[in-house]
Amino acid sequence: MNDALIIFDTTLRDGEQSPGASMTRDEKVRIAKQLERMRVDIIEAGFPAASKGDFEAVKAVAEAVKDCTVCGLARAVENDIDRAAEAIKPAKRGRIHTFIATSPIHMQHKLRMTPEQVLERAVAMVKRARQYTDDVEFSAEDAVRSEMDFLCRVFEAAITAGARTINVPDTVGYSIPHAWGERIKSLIERVPNSDRAIWSTHCHNDLGLAVANSLSAVLNGARQVECTINGLGERAGNASLEEVVMAVRTRRDIFTCDTRIDTTQIVPASRLVSSITGFPVQPNKAIVGANAFAHESGIHQDGVIKKRETYEIMRAEDVGWSANRMVLGKHSGRNAFKQRLKEIGIDFKTEAEMNTAFERFKDLADKKHEIFDEDLQALVTEADLEQENEHYRLVALKVCSQTGKTPNASVTLAVNGSEKKAAAAGGGPVDASFKAIAKIVGDGSQLLLYSVNNITSGTDSQGEVTVRLEKGGRIVNGHGADTDIVIASAKAYLNALNKFVTPAERTHPQAGQPI
Ligand code: KIV
Ligand code: ZN
Repeated sequence: MNDALIIFDTTLRDGEQSPGASMTRDEKVRIAKQLERMRVDIIEAGFPAASKGDFEAVKAVAEAVKDCTVCGLARAVENDIDRAAEAIKPAKRGRIHTFIATSPIHMQHKLRMTPEQVLERAVAMVKRARQYTDDVEFSAEDAVRSEMDFLCRVFEAAITAGARTINVPDTVGYSIPHAWGERIKSLIERVPNSDRAIWSTHCHNDLGLAVANSLSAVLNGARQVECTINGLGERAGNASLEEVVMAVRTRRDIFTCDTRIDTTQIVPASRLVSSITGFPVQPNKAIVGANAFAHESGIHQDGVIKKRETYEIMRAEDVGWSANRMVLGKHSGRNAFKQRLKEIGIDFKTEAEMNTAFERFKDLADKKHEIFDEDLQALVTEADLEQENEHYRLVALKVCSQTGKTPNASVTLAVNGSEKKAAAAGGGPVDASFKAIAKIVGDGSQLLLYSVNNITSGTDSQGEVTVRLEKGGRIVNGHGADTDIVIASAKAYLNALNKFVTPAERTHPQAGQPI
């Protein structure tokens, strides 16, 4: 019998710490439901002390998910622990994950605490968390650069205080596989009560080694891996869930453990996260990239046709790459629509919401004959975006683009209820539309990124546009989808501009400790 390898998904917490990847409560719930379908063991849903919105999002996930443990992150601070405990209260199984930095550089410069004070606080906060739940995880931030003797003392004390999971993070993505494996092995050997905890690894990808380091940890005794869909996360990201899971599953000859993940849910999860965050998946990304199972060269194609295993070590369908399935069309009725949305985890709170979504579906079906799951996801995301923040709304857009002529656009926006019009010329129709919008909004934000992806295949596919803006150090992402990519672009731009209208007061968990 193989050991269980616990999959701790932190897409909704560490993933969300990527600049511009912040998610709304409803988006988090949709991703959490997909993670539940995929059978991850633990969902880290957020950092409840960061803001009221973050607290509500963790609580909503705790209410919605039944088959996974729901976890809230807390610095080793009383208020953080109490907020996390409150947010996970509705969960069938709830975990508090508390952490404090243990490396000399973090203790001295960030925390301004002595090692003894750090140890004392770690113990006190694990004990406090245990008053709320038996399931407490403790992390030593920057464990990779912490002194081994001190790390062993902190972990031993945290286990004695009641931590049931001990997480060893490579916070800055500094390690390399053999060294990380050695560190995990040596911690398990040296901490006297190590057998009373599950050992976990949490690796960042700054050197492109997060997955390799995580797997090395597993080979050396770690039985929980912290990871994210598509490797989303701070800076270069976290270990990618799909790569870790498929490596362990594919190389059963090497790993003596396995996960309970339903791998056929991997590609749908990847697409959902990409569409919600607006972070595209690179085509050559392992497992979930568009080319991951495409065989370009003639020799490879010939081999695959004769016997698939000549060049394929995994089956595309096992990770959820079934060909786009046409799910609905112009003649589909309300019940079929409602039923399919339910199957992909989208429930409407009110009949009015359902009616609006159904009208949108009918509009889309007039323009596009075959409607896929991805179209439905985008349709609901669009509806969420509009309800969420509507300071600027697109009323009308007219663009003129002709060979040999300068493109121009005229736009009408509803700004806080009253209509405003502007026109502008630009290098292309999108550029002209953005310039016209900027004339009305005039907020001085800088465009950092503009990307268009087709949601499904075919020239009638909806284009999904992501726009990233920066203003005064704050970065926001906006999304828009439409069969007309110029309109999708304008919607994405307005969605991002709308986010600047609401002030975002959020504490970053690793920015410093209010001790
Ligand atoms: O990278 C890190 O150290 C973290 C901790 C909060 C676990 O994300
Ligand atoms: Zn992290």
